[in-house]
Amino acid sequence: MSFLFGQGSADGDRATEDGGCREQSRRVPFTFSTTTHSLPAKSDKFMQRYVQACAAHPNNRRIELLVDDIIADAALHARFVNTLARMEYVGVRKLLKSRRSDRLDLDGLQHMLDENVHALRLKKAATALAASSGTRVATFSDDDTLAGAAGEAYLQALDHKAEAALLDLPMEKRSEANYLLTTAAIEVRAQVFYPVYDALLSARGVGFSVAAITRDEDRHLDQMAHGLERTFGDRGGWRARFEPLLADEQILFDGFLREVHRAVAIVRSA
Ligand SMILES: [Fe+2]
Ligand SMILES: [Fe+2]
Repeated sequence: MSFLFGQGSADGDRATEDGGCREQSRRVPFTFSTTTHSLPAKSDKFMQRYVQACAAHPNNRRIELLVDDIIADAALHARFVNTLARMEYVGVRKLLKSRRSDRLDLDGLQHMLDENVHALRLKKAATALAASSGTRVATFSDDDTLAGAAGEAYLQALDHKAEAALLDLPMEKRSEANYLLTTAAIEVRAQVFYPVYDALLSARGVGFSVAAITRDEDRHLDQMAHGLERTFGDRGGWRARFEPLLADEQILFDGFLREVHRAVAIVRSA
C-alpha cells in the first residue's frame, strides 16, 4: 500500500479517533533507540525491525481473530476484500495527485501501477466472492464494503499526522517527505497484515492469495527506506520522525479495525 500526503481534505473524510479506540490501542513497543548517533546507514534493516515490532504487537491476535471470522462468511468476506481494494485505490489516487513530476522516476511510476494492480486483484477477488454468496460489491460505497469509509479515513488521518510532523521543513520539501514517511508506515502495516491474511486464506481454503501483493509491498518499503535516507540523511535522522508516526498508525489502524468489527455486528444483526 502507499498513501499520500498533505492534501487529505481534498480526498474525503478524516479519521475518527474516538476515545474508545484510544483506550483499546497501545503504542507500538519499539525497544530500540531513536538516537541518530553512530547508526549504520541501512534504513531497510531498520524497516524490517519495525515490521517485526509491529507484528509482535498484542493487538494483532485480535485482528487475526476478526479477519478469520470474516473469511468464514463469504458475503462478509467479499465486502471486506472490497474495502481493501478501496484502500489500494485511495493509495493510487493520492500518488497521482500528490507526486511532483520533477521528483517522479521509474520506480515511482511502477509504484503507481503496482497499487492499481493491487486494487484490481482485490476487486476481482471480492467480485468472485460476492457472486458465490449473493452479495454486491460493484462500487466502493459503504453498502458494498465493510467499513470502507473508515478504511479511507485511516489513510487520510495518517497523512495528516505526517503533515503535522513536517511543519518545520521548507514548504517545497514537505510533500515528498510526507510521501516517504506515510508510505513507509503503510508498507510496514502491509508487511504485517497481508502475510497474516494470506495464511488465513490458505487455512480456510479460499481460492485466492495476496502473496504477490506482499512481494510488491516489500519492494515498496525498501524503496521508501532508501528514499528516507536520501531525504533526511544517511545517519538515521528520519527515524525520529518515523517512529512517532508508526505509533500513531497503530492507533489509527486499531480504530479502523474497530469500525470493521462494528460493521460485522450490524450486518449480522440485520
Ligand atoms: Fe505499496
Ligand atoms: Fe498496495
